[in-house]
This record gives sequence, C-alpha cells and structure tokens, in this order.
Amino acid sequence: MTMREKLELLQQKRSESELGGGPDRVKTQHDKGKMTARERLDVLLDPRTFVELDRFVTHRSTDFGLGDERYLGDGVVTGYGRIEGRLVYVFAQDFTVFGGSLSEAHAEKICKVMDLAVRNGAPIIGLNDSGGARIQEGVVSLGGYAEIFLRNTLASGVVPQLSAILGPCAGGAVYSPAITDFVFMVRGVSYMFVTGPNVVKTVTHEEVDFESLGGANVHGATSGVAHFVHDSEPECLTAMRTLLSFIPSNNLDSPPIRPSNDPVDRRDEDLLEIVPDSPTKPYDMREVIRHVVDDGEFFEVHREFAGNLLVGFARLGGRPVGVIANQPAVLAGVLDINASLKGARFIRFCDAFNLPLLTFEDVPGFLPGVAQEHGGIIKHGAKLLYAYCEATVPKLTVITRKAYGGAYDVMNSKHIRGDYNVAWPTAEIAVMGPKGAVEILYKADATEEREAEYREKFAHPYLAAARGYVDDIIDPRETRSRLIDALATLETKRDRNPPRKHGNIPL
Ligand code: HXC
Repeated sequence: MTMREKLELLQQKRSESELGGGPDRVKTQHDKGKMTARERLDVLLDPRTFVELDRFVTHRSTDFGLGDERYLGDGVVTGYGRIEGRLVYVFAQDFTVFGGSLSEAHAEKICKVMDLAVRNGAPIIGLNDSGGARIQEGVVSLGGYAEIFLRNTLASGVVPQLSAILGPCAGGAVYSPAITDFVFMVRGVSYMFVTGPNVVKTVTHEEVDFESLGGANVHGATSGVAHFVHDSEPECLTAMRTLLSFIPSNNLDSPPIRPSNDPVDRRDEDLLEIVPDSPTKPYDMREVIRHVVDDGEFFEVHREFAGNLLVGFARLGGRPVGVIANQPAVLAGVLDINASLKGARFIRFCDAFNLPLLTFEDVPGFLPGVAQEHGGIIKHGAKLLYAYCEATVPKLTVITRKAYGGAYDVMNSKHIRGDYNVAWPTAEIAVMGPKGAVEILYKADATEEREAEYREKFAHPYLAAARGYVDDIIDPRETRSRLIDALATLETKRDRNPPRKHGNIPL
C-alpha cells in the first residue's frame, strides 16, 4: 500500500470510530430527546479544541457473541480539550454502543484520562450515559469500575471532578459520580439508582417509576445527590462551563481572577432596607449576597436542596469566593441535618481548592425535634462545625441579624479561625433569642418587660465586639468594600493544620 492509500484507510477508520453504534441507534438516542456523546462534547468544550485519545480501542471479549460485534472506541469517547482556554480532561459515554456499558477496555480508557488529569493538574469531567457493568464481561467489568472508584478517590481534593448524568445510571455506575465534587442532572433524561424499579418491587414490594425513584428532581431536592438540576442537556453543559470559571484547575493553583466593572468601593444603599426591623420577619439572604458581590452574580450550588442554607460561588473584586449563608426566608434559616451536610461538603471543596469562604449569618440555632435528634443532627451538625474548623483558606463572616447559640460558634466564628468577622448594627449575638431566654430564666413570671430587658442587655453586637469576637460593627452599605479589602490582606495568608494521616470527620 502506498502512503496515500494508508492515509485513506486511516481516514476511513477515523470516520468509522465516529459512528458509534450506527445510524439506527443514533436515531433512537435522538428520538429519546438525548444528544450523542460527541454532540455533548461539542457543547461542553471550546470550539475545535477536543483532542481524542484511544479512538481505536475495542473490547477483547468473545463471550455471548461479543466477538462478532466490535465498535471502535468501545462505547466511550475520551480525550482533552479547553473550557475558556483552560485544559480539561473528558470522557463521554456513548449509549449507542452496548448502552454505554462499561467493559474492561472502556474502563481503561476512562482511567487513562483520569491519570492524565491528575498528572497534569486539570479538571476531569465525566458525561455519564450507561447501562452499568457490561453484562457479557462479568467480573472484569466490575474490576474496571473499582479501578475508576480508586482514581476518583485519589483525585479527590487534587483536581476538580465534575459529573453529568445524561441517561440511566444504575448499580455501581452511580458511585463514581457520587465520589466526584459536583453532580449535574437533567430533568426527564437523567436517572440514578443503586437498584432500579424492578428490583425495588421484588425486594420491598414498592411500585415506583424511574422518575420518582431516581430522577433529577428527586436527587436535586430530596436526596441531595445532585448539586445542579437542569431542563436540557445544553443548559447543563453550559452550567458546567460556568462552574469551572470559579474554580482553579488543581489544588496548587489559585482560583481564576475575572476583573469586573463593578466598583470595589461601591456603597449599596439597598442593603439598609433588606433586613426588616422586626427580628422575626423573614427576608431573602440571596438579596444581601447579590448586593455585595461582583455584578450581583451568585452561582448557586444545591439550589433545590436544604433551602435554609445557601451555598454557591461568587466574586469579590474579581476573586472567586465560596459563599455560605443562612436563609431566613426558609425555616427562619435554622440549621438542620440536610443544611449541615450541604454546607460541610461545600466548605471542604472550597478549602481543598483555595477558595476563600464568605459566610453571611442569620441563624436562630439548630432545629429542635425528635426527627432531627433521631436522624443524627448531633453527628451531622458536627460535620459542618468540623468543616469550618479545619478550613485554612481565608474565612470572612458578616453577621446580619441573629447569631444564636451553638450556631454562632459553628458559622465561622472568630474562635474557629474566622479571619475577618464583622456584624451589622442589626446583629443579635446571644445564647438564645429573648423570648426563649426569659421563659427559661423566669418560667411563669416571664413578662414582656423582662424580654425587653434581655433584648437591651444581650440582643445586639456590642458585647461580642467588646471581647473582640467580631472585629468591627459596620455600616451595611460598606460591606462590599470592607470584604474586598479584607480579602486582599488575606491573599498571603498562611495557616496549616497539624501533620497527620487524616482527620476523622464525624461521617
Ligand atoms: C451490556 C447493555 C447493558 C449492559 C444495556 N445494554 N445495558 N449491554 N451490558 N449492562 C444494551 C442493550 O442490550 C441494548 O443493546 C442497548 O444497550 C440499549 O439498551 P436498551 O435496554 O434497549 O435501552 P433502554 O430501553 O433505554 O434501557 C436502558 C437501561 C436498560 C435502563 C439502561 O438497558 C437496562 O436496564 N440495562 C441493564 C442495567 C443494569 O442492570 N446494569 C448492570 C448494573 S450492575 P442493542 O444491541 O439492542 O442496542 C452494575 C455493577 C457495577 O453496574 C458494580 C460496581 C460496584
């Protein structure tokens, strides 16, 4: 064969590798309203930046007729590309080839890009669309999953790991995404469950469909497994790009700075109006966040889950920060089991990836009740406390209103290494609210006068300020400039925890 003929053959094989499981199966995929693996990568990555690896890999199995059926690439498209010019490693499972199921070769391809991502310090993004372990390959395929789980675990805290679930994701296939930092799902397209509806029916006699067992809404709002829930695949893939704009490529990098036209010394008059005069009236903490951060942009994580605590990314003077905020508009901003889990995981991500923590605090305490106590609010609340305590990134706190009881300690108090803690004049920092305190102290003799007396004595920020537990009491309109200035002083912050194998967070 001449060079030209060999080149022609190469071109043929390259084209073949892009056909997936063939036009009929691609049509079925489209008919289900789903994109193909390559179409997804086109939306995810900057144009013409995708470099494919291992396109000629095929499975090696000969069992159950598999020897006669081979597809180049073996059901997963892997490689690297760019998002806003920054390197990322990707794998996209191709449901048109054996339902995207995971074979030995398929797993090896994924492991290769994961290893490259860690070695070169770049995020790894998985687009999952798979029927799970390749049934015909048996234990070899299970071994392949285990190789991936090990890499997910070793890469945790080293490079960011993002998972999109873009199809069914069953059995062990859910555990790789579960170890990654962020899980994205799409309504009507994504499903995650350890065992599907049929198995559930056999074992527990419960009748449940795909959607209500493991659809996007369930995992976004009830289980908290999904951090982001979207209405379409392009919206989901675009959100993955946005998320990356806030976070560094690895744990040794700084988060990417994005200059903004929002003046760093902007005084915001509206901040005087958001907190109501009545201490029991709710307000939306999102409003406070939006009025303080660059361009009002707050990229919320876990938006549908545990609404009493808000977490997400924003920028201050161009620098990305992780925001954690009590939300008085939901359950008065109380801390419960789900809010503690949500906050703790987010804080640990930020601490691992050098993202400063900005806390907005208005919290009446932990949620009382039998369900919470029996559900383990003690150990779960302790996770949030532990996560704040161990974090060594710059930590800023603004107390807008209530900071009561144990929740005062937990929400990045000075005592647990808060770097810059300020209170608005509306802050109330005390063991508990006036009504509860007076009822305990005076029982039947609790009166409104005594409540007023308690309020005057304790429900303000001056006792905390007198002790240096808050660094200052500030005019709310100056919050933005104060925080940006403090953040600049913390750029060279040096803090570390004692050397040890690892701590033992109360899991
Ligand atoms: C091999 C598979 C497959 C699998 C699907 N296919 N799953 N091939 N191994 N696990 C193939 C089908 O034979 C079919 O091939 C094509 O993919 C599309 O599948 P359909 O069933 O036609 O698609 P759909 O109706 O959309 O249903 C999708 C599905 C279903 C819900 C995912 O296929 C299914 O239930 N699959 C099995 C799921 C499962 O139990 N996996 C094992 C989980 S245990 P053709 O040739 O017709 O296109 C596990 C252990 C991991 O993963 C342990 C790690 C700890």
